[in-house]
Amino acid sequence: MIPHSRPHVSEDDVEAVAGVVRRGQLAQGPEVEAFEREVAERVGAPAAAAVASGTVALELALRALGVGPDAEVVVPSYACDALHHAVTRCGAQPVLADADPATLTLSVEDAKRRLGPRTRAIIVPHAFGLAVDLAPFEHLGVPVIEDCAQALGARVGGRAAGSQGRAAGSQGRLAVCSFYATKLVAAGEGGMVLGPVDLVARVRDARDYDEREDLVPRSNAKLTDMQAALGRSQLRRLDAFIARRRAIAGEYRRRLAGAPCRAPAEAGAAHVYHRFVVQTEGSVPSALKAMHDRGVTARRPVFRPLHRALGLPGYAEAERLWSTCVSVPCYPALTDDEVETVAAALVEVLAR
Ligand SMILES: Cc1ncc(COP(=O)(O)O)c(C=O)c1O
Repeated sequence: MIPHSRPHVSEDDVEAVAGVVRRGQLAQGPEVEAFEREVAERVGAPAAAAVASGTVALELALRALGVGPDAEVVVPSYACDALHHAVTRCGAQPVLADADPATLTLSVEDAKRRLGPRTRAIIVPHAFGLAVDLAPFEHLGVPVIEDCAQALGARVGGRAAGSQGRAAGSQGRLAVCSFYATKLVAAGEGGMVLGPVDLVARVRDARDYDEREDLVPRSNAKLTDMQAALGRSQLRRLDAFIARRRAIAGEYRRRLAGAPCRAPAEAGAAHVYHRFVVQTEGSVPSALKAMHDRGVTARRPVFRPLHRALGLPGYAEAERLWSTCVSVPCYPALTDDEVETVAAALVEVLAR
């Protein structure tokens, strides 16, 4: 079976982690500091604080913005549960917005309708690796957290030929990343908050309880030097990873031309294809089963929209995406033969 995701691990990655283990500085130390500097530089952010996961990064970013009980935070329904959990862990109320069919993240118009006197933040993911322009969200007048969990290396406004645009992660009041094993840069687990020095300092304070005079709420949410060493080693290959993801996506797109489905449009530097998401005209469960029968693990790109878990009616576009979207393997560790197997299976299954 070809797995839905598989990290690309090199001997350099192994040596980087082994070096940390040999030196014996396992917990947060110089590797974490260097990783923060390198990701901040890559994204063009003034400062960065590494934490234990993308979910924790979201929670601490919200707390740094002063989100607490009585606050509301607008999040997309068509997204992973991490967004909901990050908001509720702050004691705040998630308010769901419907999806935008063009970007697969939340719709600006629906987000606007959901604003109220208690709205303190909006979380905008660059869904599946497609960088979106945050300006329309920023015009809503509420701080935006830019969720780059799936989009490290994507360039906003990079759609036009030859345009390099601006790095995802450089737009919001704060930005977050994830370094989970399937992400663009994999450290096993891990996350980061990027943004202005004063806000990032709040995240640094909150992630570590040790040797503090006061007892304001803190946690142990640190990244280890072992993880940071792996992340740094992977970051050096990020451009090659993205190039390979784009080449695979280009091949799938070419093979799907004329097939009864909607595949991601060519998006230049704006898309890093964390996921290659196809909208099928048939049933998703039978497409997943048919892909499985052909040796390919495909998945729904969002397990289940949040409004379904909360029993909320409406959210027509999130419903439509949930009942049409299929994500197929698209990652640098795929061999050319595997790409061929996935493409052939996809064409056959969608044509049925
Ligand atoms: C958009 C988005 N935000 C946040 C997260 C949470 O990241 P983590 O799994 O590192 O906690 C994910 C995880 O997949 C994600 O897709």
